[in-house]
Amino acid sequence: MDQVRYGIVGTGYFGAEIGRYLASRPDAAVTVVHDPDNGERFAAEVGARAATSAEELCAAADVDAVVVASPNWAHREPVVLAARSGKAVFCEKPIALSYEDCAAMVEETSRAGVLFMAGHVMNFMAGVRRAKALIAEGAIGEVLFCRAVRNGWEDPQGAVSWKKRRELSGGHLYHHIHELDLIQSIMGPAQVATMVGGNVAHRGEGFGDEDDMLLITLEFGPDRFATLEYGSAFRWPEHHVLVQGTLGAIRIDLQDPGCELRAPGREETFLLHRTQQEDDDRRAIYRGSETDGAVMYGNPERRPPLWLRGIIEEELSYFTGVLRGAAPLAEFAALTDGSAATAAIATADALTLSLRESRKVRVASVTTPLDPAAV
Ligand SMILES: NC(=O)c1ccc[n+]([C@@H]2O[C@H](COP(=O)([O-])OP(=O)(O)OC[C@H]3O[C@@H](n4cnc5c(N)ncnc54)[C@H](O)[C@@H]3O)[C@@H](O)[C@H]2O)c1
Repeated sequence: MDQVRYGIVGTGYFGAEIGRYLASRPDAAVTVVHDPDNGERFAAEVGARAATSAEELCAAADVDAVVVASPNWAHREPVVLAARSGKAVFCEKPIALSYEDCAAMVEETSRAGVLFMAGHVMNFMAGVRRAKALIAEGAIGEVLFCRAVRNGWEDPQGAVSWKKRRELSGGHLYHHIHELDLIQSIMGPAQVATMVGGNVAHRGEGFGDEDDMLLITLEFGPDRFATLEYGSAFRWPEHHVLVQGTLGAIRIDLQDPGCELRAPGREETFLLHRTQQEDDDRRAIYRGSETDGAVMYGNPERRPPLWLRGIIEEELSYFTGVLRGAAPLAEFAALTDGSAATAAIATADALTLSLRESRKVRVASVTTPLDPAAV
């Protein structure tokens, strides 16, 4: 395929930027878009046509691959339609808001034999790739524990975005599935999940209904653990991932961007993103007064920051390359075989159940609910 012709479902903040990047590539084109609010405007910007439905877009003869960047709750239908039309799919995170939906999407795409890639952006951060390579070469020994923290504070909003409504976005845990996905990509799928928390400080006008404080413990079999914190009820913002091994540790700082390996006789620092400029840009945004600490949400009126545009380039150039015949990389296999997405959503569902029922939940009870041994 000389040129991959894309259809984009959802051209708001993120889908439009993906579209702009794809339209700028000589080996790609955006031919059709569908978005009930922003479709016509964006189609005019990139010289595409606006379809009135996802069904029309997926069936179009001049669409080879579909990007799904509609709100989180609206991913399943276009992914299934694309698969049934034999089109490859790139789907934004979180792929779905339930294991059931996610498994159905993976099943449809694999039955159709089409590429189905999850937009889990952290996998394409240069520093995360370097950290995983160091872990794979044994630089920190066996990984015993990971800690991820993505905490900030949110002030009342003039208009409450769908991103703040639990039913539409999944709340902090699903909407910010990145850290959970990253930890599972290092430690494997969690076996037992526990979550406490709730909406502790953001009720009433100007707020959605998502839980603003989520405190998570994951167990990965004997002697392997992770903890994660998410939310917008933390006045002291923090955003980092710490990986602790038997020989050393790696800290990935997403707030004061940069990464650090510490092991006896070996210390190394490296960038979080591709260039110092991208790291500096991210640092400046976190320090800016208009954001709520580590809790950042895109807005359709704005363009994503430099570092995020860099990741869009990385992941869509990988997806386009594979469609054009490039060999897939083992490093990204879990993003294109459905396993990273289903493992992340399964664990998120187990955590949701844990919070609701005040108990530890085996992740296997979500993925194989009829197996009595899994409960
Ligand atoms: N990977 C990342 O870092 C990252 C960053 C931002 C957003 N995202 C993901 O991208 C997706 C879109 O987020 P966003 O920030 O662009 O939100 P947004 O609200 O800016 O845009 C969503 C767009 O979808 C349109 N839409 C609503 N219902 C639709 C439907 N049924 N079919 C088609 N379009 C529909 C809306 O009109 C809007 O233009 C979400 O899944 C989000 O999680 C990922």
